[in-house]
Amino acid sequence: MDPIVRDENPAGSNPTTNPHLEQLIQSQPTRRSLLASAFGGIAAVRFLGGGSLLAGAAAAQDPGGRGHGHGPLLGFTGIQASDADQLQVPAGYTAQVLIPWGTPLFRHSAMFQEDASNSAADQEGQVGFNHDGMHFFPLGRGPAASQRGLLVLNHEYTDANQIYSATQGNVITNDAAGREKVQKALAAHGVTVVEVECDRHRQWRHVRGSRWNRRITGNTPMLFRGPVAANHPALASTITPSPKGTLNNCANGHTPWGTYLTCEENWNGYFGTDDPNWTPTALETRYGVTRTGFSYNWHRAEPRFDLAVNRNELNHYGWVVEIDPTDPNGTPVKRTALGRFKHEGATVTEARGRVVVYSGDDENGDYLYKFVGERPWRQERAHGRSPLDHGTLYVAKFEADGTGSWLPLVHGQGPLTVANGWIDQADVLIRTRQAADAVGATRLHRPEWVAVHPKTGDVYVTLTNGSGNGAAVNSGRDPNPYGHIVRFREERGDHTRTTFGWEVFLLAGDPAYDPAVPPQQIAFGSPDGIWIDPDGRVFIETDISNSSQNRPDRGYDNIKNNGMVVADPRTGDVRRFLVGPRGCEITGVVTTPDQRTMFINVQHPGESTTFWNNQFGAPSPASPSTVSSWPFGGRPRPATVVIQKVDGGVIGS
Ligand code: FEO
Ligand code: CA
Ligand code: CA
Ligand code: CA
Repeated sequence: MDPIVRDENPAGSNPTTNPHLEQLIQSQPTRRSLLASAFGGIAAVRFLGGGSLLAGAAAAQDPGGRGHGHGPLLGFTGIQASDADQLQVPAGYTAQVLIPWGTPLFRHSAMFQEDASNSAADQEGQVGFNHDGMHFFPLGRGPAASQRGLLVLNHEYTDANQIYSATQGNVITNDAAGREKVQKALAAHGVTVVEVECDRHRQWRHVRGSRWNRRITGNTPMLFRGPVAANHPALASTITPSPKGTLNNCANGHTPWGTYLTCEENWNGYFGTDDPNWTPTALETRYGVTRTGFSYNWHRAEPRFDLAVNRNELNHYGWVVEIDPTDPNGTPVKRTALGRFKHEGATVTEARGRVVVYSGDDENGDYLYKFVGERPWRQERAHGRSPLDHGTLYVAKFEADGTGSWLPLVHGQGPLTVANGWIDQADVLIRTRQAADAVGATRLHRPEWVAVHPKTGDVYVTLTNGSGNGAAVNSGRDPNPYGHIVRFREERGDHTRTTFGWEVFLLAGDPAYDPAVPPQQIAFGSPDGIWIDPDGRVFIETDISNSSQNRPDRGYDNIKNNGMVVADPRTGDVRRFLVGPRGCEITGVVTTPDQRTMFINVQHPGESTTFWNNQFGAPSPASPSTVSSWPFGGRPRPATVVIQKVDGGVIGS
């Protein structure tokens, strides 16, 4: 989700003057970072991709430049930018639409109605709306593992002009009709677990009625584990005494023990109130909570979302939620040790037997975090403990010289003391953003997904775009409408350590508009999803917002519809692999283990400024460039897309 469009406060809510990464980049003479100097005398690296230390190291491990025995990294013919209302892939590839919004999952589920007249109860048995993060959990071993599995995807938000019928309209009223609409929206949120399989003709289909199929929604019961226990007073609520629901699930993660992690991002916008006496606390303001929220007005039908009635309900959100896709009756668990913020994703890697979870807080001026497990994860599980409940949460501090450090958010350490008003670790976690403010974390331009290179261990984070958040940014990139991708290497490649070196990997944007963007990097803007395949292909998905397209500075005319590019991490070369239909963002990306089937998501096709004008009075005029009838020529429907190579080869090779 792009808060620039929907957030009341696009400049963010960070009140600190902690240095901003843009300032650090600008302060680097000759725009070079000194990544190597921190870790042992290797030559200085270039500011941008080509010829950097990281690239050199990757090439050394892969001297032929041909990946993992899977052909070249950029082995396809790149496609042109396009504003056509269709999904396009390179020559020699096919794209198949799978599980669009409304697909019936269970034997007795209602069929999707084109006029959007399906009820809330119908929606509970159908695939949710606005697909986002996604992972494929194989069923079977060997070749079978790539032909059948559980696809698990989350559903970020709903669009009131698309999920209701014309007769229902988009206004939430304080009556039965309003409650039905809120219930339908809640049922379209959350997570879908669905069995998928491939036939002899390499066509994929979902298995309706599979015993694993499941919907987790805004109403599903939830457990709380870790330092913020279910009986914590901050969670006490008269309306939901047992916490339920997960909302605004954006990117995701998955664990080595086979569970799915879904991440609560812009949850603040669901709450509102008409009570004139309500005023936000400092903590609520820091999390972007306002009287109007995103103007969804759910509070008018459901007191659960009324800030004046049920303030503690806010504390039920902002967490990472763990789901076991193989246990359809299991209760999802909010893992509070991972902190509370606007989690974009939760990227898990392993180091010294322990889990390390990277997670960005996607708001202008907010931070990058990592959680490091206390003990090896197998040991924890052998003792019946979750590896995600015991460990240390850190926040990133970047230095201008290309080094950086991870600052612990641990009660009693640094400024997080009782004397300074921090009660205990649960308090630190509920107020994660304020704890990170206090320790002096580095402000960033909207950290979205994080990816770890499977060979080099380098960590890539997309910083999608930003307004500068009041920082004295003078890099020629303010308001940085295009974004950039930063990569860093933990000291000695050990993800549990607390120092790192960093550099800017790619500066996104259109070279025709911005001379800072190298010409070998084709035009793409607002990187969001990022995933690196086992060979080292860096897949980057974009989420340019409609509001960006309508800004006076534009710059997106040559970029056109959102899509996906592939980057070579050794050279910084970028090639366009996919362009989506109008008005969408591309998000969610994973392949089967054999890398011969890729799944991506098309989110919010047809999301137009017309829509926002109708409901919220957006400032820009209707934008025909975002009107869509994808995928079937009628009502636009978010959907998963299956991509395969005609010759059956590895995707991208
Ligand atoms: Fe939901 Fe930050 O994208
Ligand atoms: Ca989104
Ligand atoms: Ca985004
Ligand atoms: Ca995103």
